[in-house]
Amino acid sequence: MKKYLITSPIYYPSDKLHIGHTYCTVATDAMARYKRMQGYDVMFLTGTDEHGQKIEQKAKEAGVTPQQFVDQVVAGIKDLWQLMNISNDRFIRTTDDYHVAAIQKIFRQLHDQGDIYKSVYKGKYCTPCEAFWTETQLVDGKCPDCGREVQDAEEEAYFFRLSKYADRILKLYEDQPDFLEPASRMNEMVNNFLKPGLEDLCVSRTSFSWGVPVDFDPGHVVYVWVDALSNYITALGYQNDKYNDFDRYWPADVHFVGKEITRFHSIIWPAMLMALDLPLPKKVFGHGWLLLEGGKMSKSKGNVVDPVILADRYGVDALRYFLLREFPFGSDGTFSNEALISRINSDLANDLGNLLSRTVAMVQKYFDGTLPDTQQSAPIDAELVSMASGLRDRYETQMEKFAFQNALMEVFSVISRANKYIDETTPWILAKSEEDKPRLACVLYNLLEVLRITTGLLIPFIPVSCETAWKQIGVTKELTLWDTLATFGVLPRAISVTKGDTLFPRIDMKAELEALEQARAAKEAPAVPALPPITIDDFAKVDMTVCKVLSCEGVPKSKKLLKFQLDCGEGAPRQILSGIAQFYQPDELVGKTLVACTNLPPRKMMGIESNGMILSAEKDGKLTVLMLNDAIPAGAKLC
Ligand code: ME8
Ligand code: MG
Repeated sequence: MKKYLITSPIYYPSDKLHIGHTYCTVATDAMARYKRMQGYDVMFLTGTDEHGQKIEQKAKEAGVTPQQFVDQVVAGIKDLWQLMNISNDRFIRTTDDYHVAAIQKIFRQLHDQGDIYKSVYKGKYCTPCEAFWTETQLVDGKCPDCGREVQDAEEEAYFFRLSKYADRILKLYEDQPDFLEPASRMNEMVNNFLKPGLEDLCVSRTSFSWGVPVDFDPGHVVYVWVDALSNYITALGYQNDKYNDFDRYWPADVHFVGKEITRFHSIIWPAMLMALDLPLPKKVFGHGWLLLEGGKMSKSKGNVVDPVILADRYGVDALRYFLLREFPFGSDGTFSNEALISRINSDLANDLGNLLSRTVAMVQKYFDGTLPDTQQSAPIDAELVSMASGLRDRYETQMEKFAFQNALMEVFSVISRANKYIDETTPWILAKSEEDKPRLACVLYNLLEVLRITTGLLIPFIPVSCETAWKQIGVTKELTLWDTLATFGVLPRAISVTKGDTLFPRIDMKAELEALEQARAAKEAPAVPALPPITIDDFAKVDMTVCKVLSCEGVPKSKKLLKFQLDCGEGAPRQILSGIAQFYQPDELVGKTLVACTNLPPRKMMGIESNGMILSAEKDGKLTVLMLNDAIPAGAKLC
């Protein structure tokens, strides 16, 4: 079996991921699924790039260790990929032991053979932030983080002899003009970086410690690219025993990367591989950015779009489809809610959804769900049949170029043609006479065939919806294998259909835009900071007891306090004061089952003793008392 190694970038777990990050991984997933469909033995790699000063700082701000910090963010990233139905075969974390050990070996080898040497790193240093910046990173000559003055500073560092490889990289581009795509990116690399001459690359630092330690020089940690780029080979088992797939899968068939990291993948990465004497990837594809009203999405600008909210509202498949249909993969594109909703409505709800529901409904209505064997074709079928039979090859041509948008346009042109075919053949008129039944059966059969072929080819993009459609049109997996998708007439004639749910409900644009605006405003409300982590032992110190309200009354001269007598299962009633008088009438709480913390020291308020605290939930200043199911007995403990 032929192999196919495809990678998406490994993400920085410094913030929650946004729709721009999702874009690249969804594209990689579509390509991986497509290659599997063609019968390749696919290895789809992704992961997280967890070291560096920024992570170290964020962890410090959050009051946790860097490892605790990344563990938490990475868990969220894995959840996002699961939600988005990403079918990666492997997930590498650069903090994984096997990767760390392999990086140390790689670094040492490059050093021993003279490709890495010790020198001095010069930069701008912000003392309060303890951070080095390059000239270009400064904002108005000041620290981009805190806005304060920076000083010239130096530190000892190791450098990779990148300059030595400039000629070989130029030669690579000449010999292999499709090494980097789209072609415009190759021109950019040549004119902006290679022709002016490459500088050696700083690959270690001493001013922070969250990184892979350079094992032969304590105090140095490996800095960014040797650590990050090598993930593509360590995840296959290079210089480690964790995996054993390096010989099988390397070199990569394609690395998908965003345009701002294209340089690292098309210049530094080949140079590193040349230094290690390893084969080069066959291709690097630098995709464009998703922009929001002209600007790149970034957490610092606050203009990010949350894929979880969108997937929640419209479904994962709709979001996946939109991302790959709306924008040409190599160019930038501007995200908008209007574009998303209208794309879902026009293509998925109207074109595909309607074709499926109309076809299934007609087979139900006119043939009780099962077509007869006897069917009669007509000349008018020819155009649809030929469009559908040639579709797979046209789609393949586009997919091989990573032109997802064009591939999808090919599929949807056949879907539209099929909807038009319904209007041309008027099945509802054919249904009126018994004589026309064989013709009607043929029309419906042709529609089912179009559905089989199109949903077969849409699998890489909207996998869940395609499988739902297959159930409705009676298609099994064998009838959607790659070879069958280039042949019209594979479905058995006497096929049975089953009515099912609407694939993609139509969205009311105006109402939806308003709802989204509200959801956004709610999200932008200042977030309650999360507390630092505690241990289970800390948690167990709090005695939380279920109690029944025996009586409840106001406290004279207090607007806030209510005085409770509670049955906490202790024999005698317990008196507790609670500051919820603005939110409850005393009467309405009598007889309710509440929770109280019962191991706080007694405390006097307005001269009255309180022996604990009733638990309430607070949001925007409003308190709601925690009420439990009345079946829970007094004295039960929360655990
Ligand atoms: O760069 N539109 O990680 P990262 C499209 N750790 N793509 C976007 C995007 C947007 N608005 N925003 C981000 C890194 N991306 C390194 C990679 S690989 C050995 C190391 C893409 O989390 C971005 O272009 O900052 C990049 O390809 C990917 O998300 C990860 O970005
Ligand atoms: Mg980045």
